[in-house]
Amino acid sequence: MRPVLPQFILAVIAGIFYGISTGLGIPTVVKWIYPKIFDNDTIQLSTLILICTIPTLIAIIRGLSSFTNSYLVGYCGQFLLCKLSIRVFEKIQNLPLAFFNKNRPGELIARATSDTGLLQTSLVEFAQEILKQPTTLIGAAASLTYLCIERSDIAFLLIFILAIPICIVPIRFTGKKLRSKAWKMQHQIGELTQNLTQNLGAVREIRAFCLENRELKRYSDTFEEFSRRFLKVIKYNVILTPMIEVVAAFGVGMALFYAFQNRIPADDFIATVITLYLCYEPIKKLGRLHNKVHEGLAGLERIETLLNEPIDIQDPENPVDVGTLQGNITFTDISFAYEATPVLHGVNESLQAGKTYALVGPSGAGKTTFANLIPRFYEACTGDITIDGINIRSMRLHDLRHHISIVSQDPVLFNDTVYNNILVGNPDADKAEVLNAAKNAYADRFIEELEDGYETMVGERGTRLSGGQKQRIAIARAFLKNAPILILDEATSALDANSERFIQQALETLIRNKTVILIAHRFSSIKHADEILLFDKGKIIDRGPHEVLFANSELYQSLYKNQVQ
Ligand SMILES: Nc1ncnc2c1ncn2[C@@H]1O[C@H](COP(=O)(O)OP(=O)(O)O)[C@@H](O)[C@H]1O
Ligand SMILES: [Mg+2]
Repeated sequence: MRPVLPQFILAVIAGIFYGISTGLGIPTVVKWIYPKIFDNDTIQLSTLILICTIPTLIAIIRGLSSFTNSYLVGYCGQFLLCKLSIRVFEKIQNLPLAFFNKNRPGELIARATSDTGLLQTSLVEFAQEILKQPTTLIGAAASLTYLCIERSDIAFLLIFILAIPICIVPIRFTGKKLRSKAWKMQHQIGELTQNLTQNLGAVREIRAFCLENRELKRYSDTFEEFSRRFLKVIKYNVILTPMIEVVAAFGVGMALFYAFQNRIPADDFIATVITLYLCYEPIKKLGRLHNKVHEGLAGLERIETLLNEPIDIQDPENPVDVGTLQGNITFTDISFAYEATPVLHGVNESLQAGKTYALVGPSGAGKTTFANLIPRFYEACTGDITIDGINIRSMRLHDLRHHISIVSQDPVLFNDTVYNNILVGNPDADKAEVLNAAKNAYADRFIEELEDGYETMVGERGTRLSGGQKQRIAIARAFLKNAPILILDEATSALDANSERFIQQALETLIRNKTVILIAHRFSSIKHADEILLFDKGKIIDRGPHEVLFANSELYQSLYKNQVQ
């Protein structure tokens, strides 16, 4: 809140003015101003006008201070919401991939939007009321005390003072309940968002497998659960006001009883009852605030667990300046596990710059995992990976990843123009370079035939393009990036024969003079690799050129025969 401290302090001061003008001002009008008009038969016109303007003056002070307070507090709340949401988003950009295996997008969306929103509204209410209400209470209590001293019967005050502790009980009770209920409600919002995002991400599958009813049931179950939790929050929120009002009414009842017995005049009595109500009003609002703060704290806890999530893959303290890397990669004693079960164990390999290495092996053997460790998408459990002799852990992440291009089976495009999607490969490239990359990727022909050429929007995740077209844009990105290390993970697996022919040609140009890690299952492309690394159950059990492996390895033979047949 430091950047908005002046606004915040001003808001608080305005709140004090509001409290004083309400707590002292209204009883003053009722007790001292109005009687002057009704009790005096002779009153000067100037005095009358003066008396009549006092309520307006008090209202102006109240109005101005209330406006200033509310507006500035709204300003501070929005400022906080904005900064906090940006921090959550920034955190999400830097979290390691392993985090996203455990936390689903819906839950994260809920934390970035709904939890920050909850915190904002509770902060706004907090700042609006936290001084306004206590000062109103003090002002009203002062008026009440004065009334009692003047009338020298202290009993009114006693009734009031006795009733306050009774109000604290429901306030504390509902506050505690609300915190855990709000936590659960927010969690359910995460479930709901998750449900929706997953559903929208699978529109085709749902129709293809006729899952509409299953999805509908799942969504309505989730929503009904959300409603249940929401109603619990509401219940504890709204139970408070009636409880305090009952206590207040009881106080008034006692006052009535006392007034009748002691023959208190009407004007004194009305002023006292109004002042009493002015005392209860702040207690009611403070009680509600207490609840709101507990709701906000539930949101804050959820945001904080995200913000405090450790980032174990980050820039080292004293990064090595890598300059331009050639691409000699060495794995020393690498072991890795996503969760408990090890996926790679004791991998020792070196790859020479400029050569093409095909990773071959049964699916689930750990080929993708092996490739994922090079850009540090995941951190190896033991062992080191070096590029040109420099440990990748001592490089800046940007420097490391700048030297690696990845083309995967299912490339993701941004909802932007074709041109900008290629530009992702190298944002500093000029138009000629982008067009050249598209040409090298055999993408120029189809792009020019699109409605708006390079300016065509590709749709969410590239839905308006075919798989082969998306793949060629991904390859154009790699051409533009021109990094010395190239990872091709099943880049041609999802393609039809026609696209594959184009893409094979594009890839042949792309892989020149690069260290290439080629994960493929078509032996037509594997055969051309300089060397083949044969994976099985998380180990590299053999390596060598195609002919040698084919002669020596049973596993390789069976993989080859399976496909060729
Ligand atoms: N994100 C992940 N979380 C947990 N386990 C994973 C994850 N990705 C892959 N695995 C597991 O790791 C093993 C190796 O997977 P992977 O490297 O993708 O194999 P390949 O690419 O050789 O088919 C598999 O048993 C797979 O189930
Ligand atoms: Mg794989």
